[in-house]
Amino acid sequence: MPQRESWLHSRLGLPFLMIPAYQQLVAIAHASGAAIIPQLNMYQYVRPGTGQQTLDVNALTPEDLAEIRQLYIAAAVRAKQCGFDAVQLHLAYGWLLYRFLNPYYNQRQDDYGGTPENRCRLIVEIIQGIKAQLPDYPICAKFSFYFKPQAEIRRILAQHKDQPLPIAPCYAADECAGLCQHLYAGGLDFIEVLGDHAPWENGNRHPSCYQDLAKAVRAKCPIPIVLTGCNNEPQQLEQLLDQDKIDAFALSRALIREPQLPNRWMSGDLSPAKCIHCDACYQTKAHQCRFQ
Ligand SMILES: Cc1cc2nc3c(=O)[nH]c(=O)nc-3n(C[C@H](O)[C@H](O)[C@H](O)COP(=O)(O)O)c2cc1C
Ligand code: SF4
Repeated sequence: MPQRESWLHSRLGLPFLMIPAYQQLVAIAHASGAAIIPQLNMYQYVRPGTGQQTLDVNALTPEDLAEIRQLYIAAAVRAKQCGFDAVQLHLAYGWLLYRFLNPYYNQRQDDYGGTPENRCRLIVEIIQGIKAQLPDYPICAKFSFYFKPQAEIRRILAQHKDQPLPIAPCYAADECAGLCQHLYAGGLDFIEVLGDHAPWENGNRHPSCYQDLAKAVRAKCPIPIVLTGCNNEPQQLEQLLDQDKIDAFALSRALIREPQLPNRWMSGDLSPAKCIHCDACYQTKAHQCRFQ
């Protein structure tokens, strides 16, 4: 990736120059009755003046942490200026903030590593920093749960030879639910949960495939939950909503394949979404479904 692009990808988005364009985007969403939320993600940290890039959370100094906090807070202020209805912190897929939460990456010996509370600390400081400037502005997060250590996963795989892999037991679900509790206590308003995509998951394509993770959070913490991942079957979603108290559902690929899917379901056609979760749209031009 060229140096300049790499730099832009490594800082937080919503640049000042783009605010008028984002305001237009927000107006389009609001005109059709939708809320719209930008996702704030620092993929990796780039130390100012040096161009040094790192995803190693153990290498960050107190000055780096202070700068990261300020960048997130300033980006949230710009989001509000654009008219967005809330902001989402990206705590998923192995990027920088996710690595603070994940004990396999975070080996820090200071107040930002070790206990779950410590691993949440930087994120809670970001949340509280945003709330100090924008008290009523909702903040959510997207959190992909992390796996148990590999040895434990090998043991589970051996136990379930030739059987469908149980998803939730492969994750440190209880521990992750505890992190959600810390983030909620720290001021997070709602959380989107899913699992990490990894080759050994083998089976994460069944309907609402991460529901066990969402239920693990619900059992431990009253935070409003958005469940993500293969939400293809509307009847099952109703059950998760009514019986399991999952508050909302995110759909991504299903909407790429069928942009009118919610209208179809609302019109009474409750047949499952047509997306087969083949992931081809990650590679296609403009992320189109390969079946279109
Ligand atoms: C083309 C494409 C681009 C995506 N980009 C992002 C992204 O920028 N940030 C993110 O958190 N997730 C991203 N995702 C992941 C989706 O938001 C979603 O979490 C994932 O596809 C699982 O949900 P689904 O089964 O409804 O597709 C992307 C997915 C696709 C297919
Ligand atoms: S390309 Fe595959 S994963 Fe993407 S929307 Fe189409 S069917 Fe779904």
